[in-house]
Amino acid sequence: LTALPDIEPSRLQIRKVTSPRPVPSSSNLVFGHTFTDHMLTIPWSAVRGWDTPQIVPYGPLSLDPSCTVLHYAQTLFEGMKAYRDLNGKVTLFRPDMNMKRMQTSAKRIALPTFNGDALLELIKSLVRLDKHWIPQEPGHSLYIRPTLIGTQKALGVAPPNEALLFVICSPVGPYYPQGFKPVALYGTTEYIRAAPGGTGGYKLGANYAPGVVPQKEAGRKGYVQNLWLHGPEHHLTEVGTMNMFVVFKAENGLVEIVTPPLDGMILPGVTRDSVITLAKEHIFGKHKLQGLPENLVLNERPVTMTEVKAAAAQGTLVELFGTGTAAVISPVDKIGYLGEDIVIPTGPDGMGPISRVIWKELVGRQTGAIPSDWSVVV
Ligand code: COI
Repeated sequence: LTALPDIEPSRLQIRKVTSPRPVPSSSNLVFGHTFTDHMLTIPWSAVRGWDTPQIVPYGPLSLDPSCTVLHYAQTLFEGMKAYRDLNGKVTLFRPDMNMKRMQTSAKRIALPTFNGDALLELIKSLVRLDKHWIPQEPGHSLYIRPTLIGTQKALGVAPPNEALLFVICSPVGPYYPQGFKPVALYGTTEYIRAAPGGTGGYKLGANYAPGVVPQKEAGRKGYVQNLWLHGPEHHLTEVGTMNMFVVFKAENGLVEIVTPPLDGMILPGVTRDSVITLAKEHIFGKHKLQGLPENLVLNERPVTMTEVKAAAAQGTLVELFGTGTAAVISPVDKIGYLGEDIVIPTGPDGMGPISRVIWKELVGRQTGAIPSDWSVVV
């Protein structure tokens, strides 16, 4: 038995646009509405393995109406970002994490896996070609969306015998239309995002469409996103499309950062992991962050609405924030819950005292302004 071909960057074919489009001004960008000149496509079939990678002008895909992605949501995606500094140096942030998570997602929905290093090489080629699209303003970047879909022309529910991996790129600023300001959340008790044994811990397209109606309803009530709760005790799980952190003043003078554990319902976010790592490096003295308290602890543990509500009432709630590639760190100033609004403390510029310090270090490392091995030169 000979192994089928894996993704092979040396086979890359490039067909450039004949007339490049003008790059829009960063101030006009709406998240994910503008796309660069080119995209990467790599077809796969069970018979031929991974086929020739191609960078081609950005444009529509041709899909058979019967293909599995259109009926059974055989689709997964990643979100990653490229930054361009004022000297023109282009970097990616922890792209190896995205490549690994893509494999985990692919295995969960029977899509083909591949050599992540090879895909990363090709993504770098795409980003290099379209690098003039990467905005340089603070808080802006190129959002990269690798996507893998099942394209078998058949209505049976089965692993597809054909698939397509493609990568598109979008210059972006803030994820939320109101900019980098705090968001108000609606703690929904009518809907859930994930359940034990389900797919909440994987980055699948199927996890996102069911969130749209709950989000619209939260919007009608005057909130920006849902706070996803789980179980009879209303455990906090995620915030809209982000992971979630709460900071408490704990007993014996400690400041406790809490995020729910990866129990299969929580997406293993790259920003989540980065925030945890930065906090731990501070706590264990590997890399102190100026401005963070000495008496900090970090716990990955369940947290309930009862605990958050009580802490808000007693003045022991320090802050609550969401983290994600698209939104980076997003402070929360209010949670609508069972008919009342719980006020969450925020700092003068919106961010709380802990998230502001972590955000500064994180953005420094993301943009390459603070050198670290998380930043990978393209
Ligand atoms: C990201 O933060 O990259 C996400 O995947 C959220 C997305 C749905 C915009």
